[in-house]
Amino acid sequence: MAKRVVLAYSGGLDTSVAVRWIREEWGMEVVALAVDVGQSADDDWETIRRRALAAGAMEAVVVDAKAEYAQDYCLPALRANALYEGKYPLVSALSRPVIVKHLVAAAREYGADAVAHGCTGKGNDQVRFEVSTRALAPDLEVLAPVRVWGFTREDSMDYAAKHGIPIKVRKDNPYSIDENLWGRAIECGAIEDPWVAPPQEPYALTTDPSQAPRDPWELVIRFERGVPVSLDGTAMPLHELVGEVGRLVGGYGWGRLDMVENRRVGIKSREVYECPGALALILAHADLESITLERDLMREKARLEPRYAELVYDGLWFSPLRRALDAFVDDSQRPVTGEVRLRLEPGRCFVTGRRADAGLYDYELATYEAADAFRHEDAAGFVRLWGLGLETIARKQGPPDA
Ligand code: ARG
Repeated sequence: MAKRVVLAYSGGLDTSVAVRWIREEWGMEVVALAVDVGQSADDDWETIRRRALAAGAMEAVVVDAKAEYAQDYCLPALRANALYEGKYPLVSALSRPVIVKHLVAAAREYGADAVAHGCTGKGNDQVRFEVSTRALAPDLEVLAPVRVWGFTREDSMDYAAKHGIPIKVRKDNPYSIDENLWGRAIECGAIEDPWVAPPQEPYALTTDPSQAPRDPWELVIRFERGVPVSLDGTAMPLHELVGEVGRLVGGYGWGRLDMVENRRVGIKSREVYECPGALALILAHADLESITLERDLMREKARLEPRYAELVYDGLWFSPLRRALDAFVDDSQRPVTGEVRLRLEPGRCFVTGRRADAGLYDYELATYEAADAFRHEDAAGFVRLWGLGLETIARKQGPPDA
């Protein structure tokens, strides 16, 4: 059995109980590692750190990974327009690999022979933690106390109380929430019935559209080679830009998703998300691609995008295929420089304009006005040859049954 373990610590009930439980039941020393990926915690990080120590951790560390997470994980997903099953921008799926990277680094620093996570056996996050750890550090054991202890929520609360772990939990809060700067995932409670409309209460990043400002708002996002670099002319680092866009768009009540998705472990699960920043940026980015990418490249990229999203969802971030797809996407982004204007209305966010430094939209080719430079005489021969095969069938074999 391993002797020292680095636990991915959130400051919540399960991972706080896990600190003590691992020490008591498995007799191991626990280093608690909290990774700041932009989640809005109820408590500040120092309180969270002290809670881990109070629960019995030998050491508790907080790593600020916001900029790294935005740059190295969210950005490639954005440039790939990555939406799992066409909808979900991979909020939780993207954060696990960066957390694991820091877990492994901490395991090396503290001479630990294992890492641990607080996931249950029914979800995707255990898959992502474990597969990512094996990919980076096959020598480390991965421990999952929550899969072993069989506590109900009540049991966990009793355990925390009995061991004097300082944690306030709302007994009536039925939701399981996972959040980072790419958005927020909401599970459990009333939404486990897929017919039940999502209640308002668990939302935190999006306003109820009926409460949103009536007056519309417009924002302009500038991209350089597929990287969002400024908002309304103000340059800012990506992790701040995602937050700013999210606040504006979320304020208009847009960015909510309600879906039943296919988990890696074979369960269909009803999930509610709010991802105003991520979804608005993907919307804008994909639109800018429509004016900057050559047709064949755009179509091939579109074919690969769902595959990219599946890989990330399924915990294969550290796979050679993801790397290779990123190389393809990176190359595709050379011309994706320009601006997209988004308009916000209550419950709506949509593109109203786009312009690109080296866009392929050519006014003189497209216009029906006097400036028209298209060679109309070329069209007749082109169209005849385009249809020559079908014309030949009709002449030789007769037209198809209509
Ligand atoms: N279903 C989403 C996913 O698999 C969200 C998971 C949220 N995780 C959580 N611990 N609540 O990516």
